[in-house]
Amino acid sequence: MLTLSIETSCDETGAAVVQSTGLFSHRILANATASQIKTHAPYGGVVPHLAAREHSKNLPVVTKKTLTSFRERASGQSISKKINQIAYTAQPGLPPALLTGKMFAATLSLLWQKPLVPVNHIEGHLYSFLLDPAFRPSCGVRPRTELFPLVALIVSGGHTQLLLLKDIQAKKLLGQTLDDAAGEAFDKAGRLLGLPYPGGPEIEKAARTGKAHKFAFPRPLLQSNDYNFSFSGLKTALFYKTKELKQRNQKIQGQLRADLAASFQAAVIEVLTQKTLKAIQEYSAKSVVLAGGVAANQALRRELKNKTYALKPKPSLFIPPFEFCQDNAAMIGVAANVYSLLNKRTRS
Ligand code: KG4
Ligand code: ZN
Repeated sequence: MLTLSIETSCDETGAAVVQSTGLFSHRILANATASQIKTHAPYGGVVPHLAAREHSKNLPVVTKKTLTSFRERASGQSISKKINQIAYTAQPGLPPALLTGKMFAATLSLLWQKPLVPVNHIEGHLYSFLLDPAFRPSCGVRPRTELFPLVALIVSGGHTQLLLLKDIQAKKLLGQTLDDAAGEAFDKAGRLLGLPYPGGPEIEKAARTGKAHKFAFPRPLLQSNDYNFSFSGLKTALFYKTKELKQRNQKIQGQLRADLAASFQAAVIEVLTQKTLKAIQEYSAKSVVLAGGVAANQALRRELKNKTYALKPKPSLFIPPFEFCQDNAAMIGVAANVYSLLNKRTRS
């Protein structure tokens, strides 16, 4: 199964060619992403109509780049003959941005007479775990016996979900954020600390030299008897702390900013990790997935790894490579191929 995939749900324009020879066997043959960070940075967040404008400008460029790089590998037949289907992110996302990608993908599908596959963006993030190097043929993960039940923590700018998978398609939502997503909380905290957009990577950078125990921020819903999350109160706690510090004529910069960033990050990570650990234990999960833009956070990756590996029996942990945590078209291609392979299986 060979798919050309398009991603335009937020502020990254992506195109990729993904080949899948089985549900657990995916190879990225070409992938290109154009980031819009510079366009949105002056506004401190993503402006939907600017995102759509940038996508329509960038889509032909990233698609050409992807197809050129694919052509170098695929000698002989024309690209349009080799590709089986065109996939695009259908939802969730910013409506004007999604529409741009849909129209582009639909045009290619008409032109090349290929099926058009709408993909759910969160499922794209979820199935990006199949890009973990552990799924390379030489590493020999035995999916049917070693993966399920699987607990997945999907943390991005728009979503925070804890999922349980009994197999590759049987998904159950265990819990989700009741207000801000984890990435959104990082971005808002970044703004409060005077850091550039997007706040997530900036908070992580600042936190490296900060003391995580300096400020005692709340751990919202940590003790709740469910798998839901809430981050807006934590952001408010940071707001009042910065206000109080400013009233005492302290400038939010240098070591003080690093300590605030480290303490805030520690609170988010503790809640995410503890809820995931609870789900692993309750459902006797054999493996754990961490995916989405916030999965790029090294401190979160480290903490989840340390805590997961300390459990007995020890579950496996799968995290997509760094470049496939944030929005990209490769994960949309993987998800489209999973859908198609599952459809084929049901029909046969
Ligand atoms: O998955 P993604 O690219 O887009 C959505 O689907 O929302 O995630 C983007 C989010 C942003 O909120 C960004 O601040 C956050 O991921 N993020 C991070 C880090 N890198 C990106 N958050 C914390 N630490 C990071 N290193
Ligand atoms: Zn995303």
